[in-house]
Amino acid sequence: MTSRPHHPEPIRFAYWVPNVSGGLVISKIPQRTSWDADYNRKLAQIAENAGFDYALTQIRFTAGYGAEYQHESVAFSHALLAATSRIKVIAALLPGPWNPTLAAKQVATISQLTNGRIAVNVVSGWFSGEFRAIGEPWLDHDERYRRSEEFIRSLRGIWTQDDFSFRGDFYRYTNYTLKPKPADPLPEIFQGGSSRAARDMAARVSDWYFTNGNTPEGVRAQVDDIRAKAEANGHSVKVGVNAFVIARETEGEARAVLQEIIDNADPEAVKAFGHEAKNAGKASPEGEGNWATSSFDDLVQYNDGFKTDLIGTPDQIAERILALKDSGVDLALLAFLHFQEEVAHFGAEVIPRVRALEAARQQAAAPDERAAAA
Ligand SMILES: Cc1cc2nc3c(=O)[nH]c(=O)nc-3n(C[C@H](O)[C@H](O)[C@H](O)COP(=O)(O)O)c2cc1C
Repeated sequence: MTSRPHHPEPIRFAYWVPNVSGGLVISKIPQRTSWDADYNRKLAQIAENAGFDYALTQIRFTAGYGAEYQHESVAFSHALLAATSRIKVIAALLPGPWNPTLAAKQVATISQLTNGRIAVNVVSGWFSGEFRAIGEPWLDHDERYRRSEEFIRSLRGIWTQDDFSFRGDFYRYTNYTLKPKPADPLPEIFQGGSSRAARDMAARVSDWYFTNGNTPEGVRAQVDDIRAKAEANGHSVKVGVNAFVIARETEGEARAVLQEIIDNADPEAVKAFGHEAKNAGKASPEGEGNWATSSFDDLVQYNDGFKTDLIGTPDQIAERILALKDSGVDLALLAFLHFQEEVAHFGAEVIPRVRALEAARQQAAAPDERAAAA
């Protein structure tokens, strides 16, 4: 199966919630981004007015490579939802510390309180030191995904069925009925990863698959793999890709900011993060984990966000977002150096250009579609 060159749904935009300290780069470059609640409430309001559809929170239980302070994701998501009226907030959940019973109940309540604006991102763990610190067993790579898949099947079952029963290796339910269930629409289930286990899980159970930053060709390979497998499973899954945006008046200015971020990288922290991240993925039998091919420069942004190359003028960035869309991407997950002002700038300068390009594509495709329908 190949990706379609044109699809009419507008591409969606999400931003990383800076609910951990240090921003989204492992660099000492000054950042006008704060991890505190007031900054984040205002940011969420700016983002929904700027045309963003989703905000993605992060979960970390310990410091690691910059993130010295970390607010918890579910409670923080609720605070952002209470301060906004349209944007959806995606709460990260880590199986192990969370079990599906508590997660399903917490998220159902937040869904009821917010007219169904909560979603979840089921993450599978990459930092063995974090697991050790909190006394959680560090499972093998593919075992972590087997647990995450049972977690997702349990969540969905609890949210949609009365008398839910499930017999897994990690979780068990017997005639369990959750009341109240979540509001309509049901919370969407996102997941992250790039390894084969991550892709296979997406093709079976997830609504959305998030992957690390990549080129349009690199993303297309993953999209084609996931969509072919999903189709064989009678499932459908949407794809989001990570990117770090540097939008400036000239490409030169944007590239200079990138260079400054990398020049100010904390080499010890980047190397230690790279070691940990690659180690986490190495256990994946095929060696295609999230950070399998990341260079030092790539690792300065936690999820390879420079590789997507949304760095340049608003016109260049809009064109590259359309190229991602042509590769089958449904959502761009974005991080910035100075979140509040850059999210507002992205909404004013980039999103309208993307929408104009999408409208032009739509118009150009219309005669073909009419011919196909005739
Ligand atoms: C967009 C995105 C967001 C993620 N958020 C978190 C998070 O908040 N906390 C966490 O521990 N892991 C997070 N992860 C890590 C993944 O769950 C997974 O452990 C990691 O990507 C390893 O993938 P691999 O199996 O492909 O190597 C995230 C990954 C992606 C791509």
